[in-house]
Amino acid sequence: MYRGKKELLSLFSVEDDVFGNETESDMDLEKAALEDTEEAIDHGILVANLALRLAEELGFDSEFRSRVADAGIVHDIGKLQISGLLYGRKEGVLRIEEIKYVRRHPTLGYNFLSKKKIGDEEFRNMILHHHENFDGSGYPDNIKGEMIPVGSRILRICDVYAALVSERPYRPAFEKDNAMELMIDEVKNFDMTFFLAFMRVVHADDFASIDDYIKRCNSKVHVKSKRLQ
Ligand SMILES: [Fe+2]
Repeated sequence: MYRGKKELLSLFSVEDDVFGNETESDMDLEKAALEDTEEAIDHGILVANLALRLAEELGFDSEFRSRVADAGIVHDIGKLQISGLLYGRKEGVLRIEEIKYVRRHPTLGYNFLSKKKIGDEEFRNMILHHHENFDGSGYPDNIKGEMIPVGSRILRICDVYAALVSERPYRPAFEKDNAMELMIDEVKNFDMTFFLAFMRVVHADDFASIDDYIKRCNSKVHVKSKRLQ
């Protein structure tokens, strides 16, 4: 398993200004932020490893594979900037105004990485467009088909799969086959060639190490939700 470069993982440290003028008195908020951070890193590592496998299956060279894996590590970094608005969430339904904020996370991530001078424009564009759908119904720019950077098309598939098979405090994880069925229902969102390659990846024998990683992450969430009760 690829665990991410130090330089990228250090970007997840919660910055003082995330919650505005909060003081040290709000320990719960701080604890929730740390848990959000841990979850974000686990999710990033999973997406990175899925992206590595998919890029390999599609025949991309090792330089591109490691770029898309690094983009996988930090693809949701923009979410940490709005975690103060979403923290402690135990229910699945987002309010309209929350959806508006969540939809800003690819742009927030792109801006954050530009400010920190992480990667080049091509790298940051993978992150900016990782929620674009192949039929043009995604965000932030509603671009479609081959207009969407190749890396973003890879991340889109891996991100959705990673989210579905991961346990959340508000819902259980989907089994591999159910997750794939749900993705087939939404296949208009994906590059079909990439999606077919992804199906081969998840059914390959050497996918077991990724399955194990998913199980380990899900058991952590179990412990956490028990603590919340
Ligand atoms: Fe995302």
